[in-house]
Amino acid sequence: MIKGTFPIEKFRELETPFYYYDMKVLRDTLDTIKKEVSKYENFHVHYAIKANANPKILKVIREAGLGADCVSGGEVRASVEAGFPNDKIVFAGVGKTDKEINYALDHDIFCFNVESIPELEVINELAAREGKVARVCLRINPDVEAHTHTHIITGMAENKFGIALKDMLQVVQLAQQLSNISFVGLHFHIGSQITNMHDFVSLCERINEIQHLLHKHGIYPMVINVGGGLGIDYQSPSEHPIADFKAYFRVFTQHLHLRPEQSLHFELGRSVVAQCGSLITRVLYVKQAATKQFAIVDAGMTELIRPALYQAKHTIHYLSPLNCQLPTSKYDIVGPICESSDVFDKDVLLPVTQRGDLLAIRSAGAYGESMASTYNCRPLPPYYTDEELDLSVQLNKLYETLQK
Ligand code: LLP
Repeated sequence: MIKGTFPIEKFRELETPFYYYDMKVLRDTLDTIKKEVSKYENFHVHYAIKANANPKILKVIREAGLGADCVSGGEVRASVEAGFPNDKIVFAGVGKTDKEINYALDHDIFCFNVESIPELEVINELAAREGKVARVCLRINPDVEAHTHTHIITGMAENKFGIALKDMLQVVQLAQQLSNISFVGLHFHIGSQITNMHDFVSLCERINEIQHLLHKHGIYPMVINVGGGLGIDYQSPSEHPIADFKAYFRVFTQHLHLRPEQSLHFELGRSVVAQCGSLITRVLYVKQAATKQFAIVDAGMTELIRPALYQAKHTIHYLSPLNCQLPTSKYDIVGPICESSDVFDKDVLLPVTQRGDLLAIRSAGAYGESMASTYNCRPLPPYYTDEELDLSVQLNKLYETLQK
């Protein structure tokens, strides 16, 4: 989606805020992933549903042949309902409930990514009750640092995720002994929005050490799952709409030592969907304060919490071309929620802005709609896709006429 190609006139007809998905960007991203993955045998990509579980998005991703990576029973259900084949669904998470485990067992998912001994024992017990054998990858905490925001680092010893390296051998041996568990491999995930490929190199090196140790004990995992984490360009979404999948996959072929029969699995979320989505919002008021000028918009942290939660910076585009010749001015772009952290960005240079102007908050396809809330009794945001925008505008007009 190139800046300037937003269908602004159609946006004007719609109530804001809303999510806008450019399905062409999504399809181009998926084509790139498929092209790169097809270069390697035994590479499997699961889409991390948590990034965006919108059914329209899931359908396109499923049609592209990706599997699903889930972290709750709800996500397993969403993948099943979206038609992802059961044997391409993986299920991680430190706190799976019995109900969620049973649901996944009933659907014969590809594997559980198990994070602790008690969880392993519960899955064994529940599988036994159903007369099933659960396939399991053990999530290992590799103690590898990812250089990203501290809230989205997951692979350090102090994080709650995964089994500590010192306990790994004992847990693998237990998994091999339990009668209703089939130990298939190892799972890792070091963090999210990782742009320094060296972090993935460090992960590969750690996995090589781990495999070396396991081989010494006669243990040969069939599956290696390296999680997700590939970052995207939040600063220049129009210039770089597609992440560097080529470089990303190459890191693993160059640095990870796999046996020919092993398969390598990825769980990509953000890099698949972030750039296809924008949050479209209207300026409600421009307010002059003592030292600041605020553009108060109708979207808030309820629609996109990333700036408030992780101090994330999303590029904000001004979408009203009529005013584009006007001089620019600096604004703090803030939402209407009763929280001081409800700020999208500070000191943003925009054309002089007035009530009714439209803004696009870019790169919001990942962890945007899926993290939206109803705080302050606000409704969840609607969404439109480029493919159905005309129809949506017509339906909205019809609805308004009927209301009168
Ligand atoms: N696999 C596991 C086990 C994960 O925990 C995650 C993300 C992924 C895969 C997908 O990671 P990705 O490719 O999207 O980086 N809400 C935060 C991100 C939290 C990520 C949680 N886990 C944000 O808005 O930045």
